Amino acid sequence: MPRYERIEDIDSKTADLTRARQSLIEELEAMMFYDERASATGDQILREIMIHNRDDEKEHAALLIEYLRRNDPEFDKELREILFSSKEFKDIFD
Ligand SMILES: [Fe+2]
Repeated sequence: MPRYERIEDIDSKTADLTRARQSLIEELEAMMFYDERASATGDQILREIMIHNRDDEKEHAALLIEYLRRNDPEFDKELREILFSSKEFKDIFD
């Protein structure tokens, strides 16, 4: 599971954050795969299935983001500052 360090060198909190972050990567990749397949297929029913499945991945991703927000105080801080802001992007950057 660890990508760069030995498992025995990683504390359980870090290991769980890694699990959640890697899972988020996989959910985002799944969204891309379904999007591409929905775009590419000429079969309308298959396109609808791909779109349904893609949108299910969005719920999965949101759950992982919420887990990370609750378990990573700096991520929580950034999300609170940026998400749902009506500011221009140029005014959000540090
Ligand atoms: Fe998923």
